[in-house]
Amino acid sequence: MLPFALLLLLVRWPESAPPPAIDEFHSQMLRRFSDGRGFGMSRIVRWNTLGHHFSAPLGAKTDFAPENAEERVIIDRWSRDGWQSGLYVFGASIKNEAAATRFHRALKGPGVLHEATPRGELPKWEEVYPVAAEAMHQFELGATSHVAVVNGWTLHARPVAAAKETCAQCHNGGAARLDAAAKVKPGDVLGGVVYLFRR
Ligand code: HEC
Repeated sequence: MLPFALLLLLVRWPESAPPPAIDEFHSQMLRRFSDGRGFGMSRIVRWNTLGHHFSAPLGAKTDFAPENAEERVIIDRWSRDGWQSGLYVFGASIKNEAAATRFHRALKGPGVLHEATPRGELPKWEEVYPVAAEAMHQFELGATSHVAVVNGWTLHARPVAAAKETCAQCHNGGAARLDAAAKVKPGDVLGGVVYLFRR
């Protein structure tokens, strides 16, 4: 019989430690959120997703195009180290919406970060929904990260806050389906990104 320690090595445990540079990558995504382009997930993926759920054009192998050296180095490194990667974007309305309404602003994705990732194997929207809802809850309590494992993928969530007054103003509009009694203030968490990794 194999010693227990050796057995553990043979079982392929999902890795819950974040791949290196996830926080550096998230800072790049926060930079994308804070400039003037598009809205929400459209700031990250190559396709416009405004007003509806995410869907990639037929045959697209990746949904992400690095736009500077920092992003390129991290994506190349993840791919060289054998990570498959993708992401979802969620919004504060996930607190007030039941998953069954399938509201696109509560959760959107999955987008593929690198072409070595099999799109069809990324965790499904309804599998990620409770993880994103819990992340939103934790972020409102002050957490800056949330991790969960789903079907062999490790999900690392990071918050996106209303960095400026203008973010809060626009996000308080009715389309965000937020609780009218709890208006968003600058600094409040508007949602976040769930990064998906497997190798
Ligand atoms: C002019 C209005 C406007 C401004 C200003 C704005 N947003 Fe948004 N934001 C939107 C809209 C509309 C969406 C939904 C887009 C879609 O359909 O995916 C969105 C989506 C998002 C999402 C995804 C979750 C959700 O609620 O749909 C995040 C996170 C987000 N914005 C963060 C920010 C941050 C951070 C800022 C400020 C730096 C900001 N936004 C400024 C209109 C705005």
